[in-house]
Amino acid sequence: MRNKYKKPTTFPCNAGSKCSVSIIVWTLAGFLLLLHFFSLVSHKDGTSGEIELHISHNPSFRELVEVEEENIQIPPPRGKRSPRAAKRRPKRTTTLIDEFLDENSQLRHVFFPDMKTAIDPMKDNGNDSFYYYPGRIWLDTEGAPIQAHGGGQDIGIAYSIEAFAILVDIIGVGCYSSKDMWTWKNEGIVLAAEETNETHDLYKLNVLERPKVIYNDRTGKYVMWMHIDDCNYTKAAVGVAISDYPTGPFDYLYSKRPHGFDSRDMTIFKDDDGVAYLVYSSEDNSELHIGPLTSDYLDVSNVVRRILVGQHREAPALFKHLGTYYMVTSGCTGWAPNEALVHAAESIMGPWEDMGNPCIGGNKVFRLTTFFAQSTYVIPLAGLPGLYIFMADRWNPADLRESRYIWLPLIVRGPADRPLEYNFGFPLWSRVSIYWHKKWRLPSRWSG
Ligand code: GAL
Repeated sequence: MRNKYKKPTTFPCNAGSKCSVSIIVWTLAGFLLLLHFFSLVSHKDGTSGEIELHISHNPSFRELVEVEEENIQIPPPRGKRSPRAAKRRPKRTTTLIDEFLDENSQLRHVFFPDMKTAIDPMKDNGNDSFYYYPGRIWLDTEGAPIQAHGGGQDIGIAYSIEAFAILVDIIGVGCYSSKDMWTWKNEGIVLAAEETNETHDLYKLNVLERPKVIYNDRTGKYVMWMHIDDCNYTKAAVGVAISDYPTGPFDYLYSKRPHGFDSRDMTIFKDDDGVAYLVYSSEDNSELHIGPLTSDYLDVSNVVRRILVGQHREAPALFKHLGTYYMVTSGCTGWAPNEALVHAAESIMGPWEDMGNPCIGGNKVFRLTTFFAQSTYVIPLAGLPGLYIFMADRWNPADLRESRYIWLPLIVRGPADRPLEYNFGFPLWSRVSIYWHKKWRLPSRWSG
């Protein structure tokens, strides 16, 4: 029997002619295949092809993508449990995370190696020069441990060979400079805390975190943005300071809740066209907000978008590679480490898509805890497209000054693990990988 509801497989096109749906479908499929083909060709022939080549043929790059495993043995529990205690609380196996969080763990030196193994770029290191040892204490040019947690770097045009890492502690925001990214000179406190005025944002018992500095080409000023809070984290604001020099002194201007929203972990990002953006965790850290700054970088504009809504991400570190924006974030577990995620977007204002966990090597716990650290910043390396330094902090909540730096190579190459929603299943975007290494150094071609 004829089904009167059956949809016709042909429908009228131009006056009188009939196009079959299958022709349209095949044309579309052909178009998509062509698109895919061109994207593959451009990946091979274009800049990203060259990057692939650099990465696989350069021996020092090859070392960077080698997967290095960690095999850390959890020590047996100390002392025998009394039979009564064993009955009361059944024994739970200790995990590496328990050991990391336990200040008295026998493995403390594994996560927080002491002064004996400190990296001292001023001493004759022979073949060990320029090596980063993630987690070890790192000394400045005067032999003091570098204090630059939660910082960022501004490698501006005028300062392409100079880098500045900035941090906060109770004394204020400090600044270090380097020409080789290994030897760091302490430039002193560039934004001092307020000693006596308790109503001041910078009063020494308040909180100042994640300071970031960018240079404004139009005004010729260095502008610092930071997370400003009270000791209970209820103020949830951003602060702005300004200076004529990257090494300060910075004048503190004001704080505010950007776009009227609470703001905690934050970063700023200066795009190629000179427009800078503020990215901050908001709505009680349940989502991120992103919006352009005014052209003098001293305020937010009234444009803002909510991104990663309901995902509870923080510690954003944003970078751009071949026109695509990438952002590493952490989950929200305070100072305790958790799993990093990478997100990517074609437009910085979104939509942003998840690309999964970028961490490779170490062991499973390392990968699920971002190598026991939290993202802070991603540094592009002039002349080495596709290679970045991933800067993270291994927090020591008991004594934040005793936190450690985890710097690792971040490489953008190869197809993404998961097809992205807006790309019809084609992995047009590259995978972002952060490789664990006990020790590593930048390729010799990059020498500042
Ligand atoms: C973390 C955040 C840090 C700091 C800390 C305070 O989640 O990333 O920047 O704010 O919480 O507990």
